[in-house]
Amino acid sequence: MLTQLVYTCRPRFDARGEDGNRILREIAENARQHAGSGEISGVTLVGGDWFAQILEGEASQLRPVFNRILSDERQESLRLVDMRLTQQRQFDSSGAILHPDEASTLAHNQLAQLGADDFLKIAAASLPSSEKSGQ
Ligand SMILES: Cc1cc2nc3c(=O)[nH]c(=O)nc-3n(C[C@H](O)[C@H](O)[C@H](O)COP(=O)(O)O)c2cc1C
Repeated sequence: MLTQLVYTCRPRFDARGEDGNRILREIAENARQHAGSGEISGVTLVGGDWFAQILEGEASQLRPVFNRILSDERQESLRLVDMRLTQQRQFDSSGAILHPDEASTLAHNQLAQLGADDFLKIAAASLPSSEKSGQ
């Protein structure tokens, strides 16, 4: 059984500026390096002043990754939206960073109203089909 984890946080940098782009590339590179050979998959959504990330993998492999993110000083106000068991991966790879139009209009203080499935829907709608798993 796999675990799927969804969390939101606020970047402690301006994700839209040039420095922000560089940091996002570093984070994507980290994610790829620590993804193993496909053991951890997921996507990061970038909104106006927030991030949401979906991570999938065996719980024992997700735990160290999530612990690193929790203590990463580039983010704050991290909130675990959901952590649940799933039979099947929804994403093929790790490190994809998406900037959905729908996300740019949502402010961080509106996110509390969204559940894991809302974030999954936003991600699925903006992901190139090559990155989706099993469809
Ligand atoms: C919002 C955010 C999302 C991140 N997502 C991931 C991730 O999915 N996978 C990962 O390995 N690191 C991720 N990181 C980076 C980790 O917090 C950490 O910096 C990195 O894994 C450390 O790698 P290193 O020990 O090889 O330097 C993320 C950081 C932030 C701020």
